[in-house]
Amino acid sequence: MTHDLVIANARIVTCAGPAVRRGAAMRDLGIIAQGHVAIDAGRIAAVGSGPAPIGVTTIDAGGRVVMPGLIDCHTHACWAGNRFDEWEQRLSGVPYLDILAKGGGIMSTVRSVRTASRDTLVGGILDRVRQASARGTTTLEIKSGYGLTLDAERAMLAAIRDAAAIAADRVRIVPTALLGHAIDPDRADFVDEVIDLTLPAISKAFPGTAIDAFCERNAWSLDAVRRLFEAAARLGHPLRLHADQFNDLGVLPLAGALRLRSVDHLEASTDAGLAALAATWDAGAGCVGVGLPLCGTHMADGRFARLRRLIDLGGACAVGTNCNPGSAPCISMPLALGMAVRHCGLTAQEAIIAGTVNAAHVLGDSDVGRLMPGLKADLILLHHRDERALLHDLDADHVAQVMFSGRLVPTV
Ligand code: NIG
Repeated sequence: MTHDLVIANARIVTCAGPAVRRGAAMRDLGIIAQGHVAIDAGRIAAVGSGPAPIGVTTIDAGGRVVMPGLIDCHTHACWAGNRFDEWEQRLSGVPYLDILAKGGGIMSTVRSVRTASRDTLVGGILDRVRQASARGTTTLEIKSGYGLTLDAERAMLAAIRDAAAIAADRVRIVPTALLGHAIDPDRADFVDEVIDLTLPAISKAFPGTAIDAFCERNAWSLDAVRRLFEAAARLGHPLRLHADQFNDLGVLPLAGALRLRSVDHLEASTDAGLAALAATWDAGAGCVGVGLPLCGTHMADGRFARLRRLIDLGGACAVGTNCNPGSAPCISMPLALGMAVRHCGLTAQEAIIAGTVNAAHVLGDSDVGRLMPGLKADLILLHHRDERALLHDLDADHVAQVMFSGRLVPTV
């Protein structure tokens, strides 16, 4: 049989196995030291060693690494304006949450987004998506959350949908409705308004989209999150939560009961909280801890999620860029994964699983993140012959070729 495309003579990091990994299973990359990947109609037809099958087109990888396209499961890549002034304030020692409490930070981007045109929002997303793709990302999540009114949240989600359609030849964009990102100081009964008005309308316009919130002092309280999430669960939405970024407000022991798909940040998590998060798997409620180490890197505050501890406790983790205009203005998954190795204690192998298989699980997509027959042919060819270089060499030119749904994508 002749395949559409064959990549031959490659070191293949298949990541084959279950669709989510935890504990020691996060170290198994399913490597084929010298092998091939065959692709038909945008899907993987075969992965193996031995003589390569015939392809209409054949790429000789020359022994370099082929692996699943990277999956960025946490971004805020839809925004307008910039936060350079706030950055300078933070560098001079003003805390992030103090800036937010005074109406800056997230609220400053909210003001920029509310007055931005659709073209500005879509153009910003496309520019960031182009950069992500050049760095090996084939699927990324983009949150709303800088609108906070029904109209502005709807406009953000529409811009994300429009950008997804335009970029559909190179990347898969998964929207998340971050309805609880901040408390709008200008609107009385804001939490009730989000739960009673914004959520049902967004649910109708964007059914099944994950709902997210920021549980933190000066943002959403645990009680407000619980009310929002109970309503969202009744409407059938998956739930994700920003928690333990600066303060532990007691979310992790409730992660299983709230049926959270992921809890993201975890910089302030205690041992007991991480143990509770790990225990969600034995309780059948499996919740993934998402580390966002570009945040600690950009904020230069030395605060990082203790993902090593979470894995050693038998938990599952993923890693995302958290690309946003305030705490992590960067959309490079290789850099995020490299920082997860340096600062969160992951091994190179665990970091790769965190940025492929487990990130796909967080986004509810078991069709990507692994190179296995039948799955989507989203993969990257590295310049390297050893996958550890992806984590070891910082800000290097890692990606020789990106393939999305079986088609080669331009890398610039
Ligand atoms: O995950 N903490 C909440 N949200 C983002 C930051 C967004 C912003 O500062 O604009 C985060 O770090």
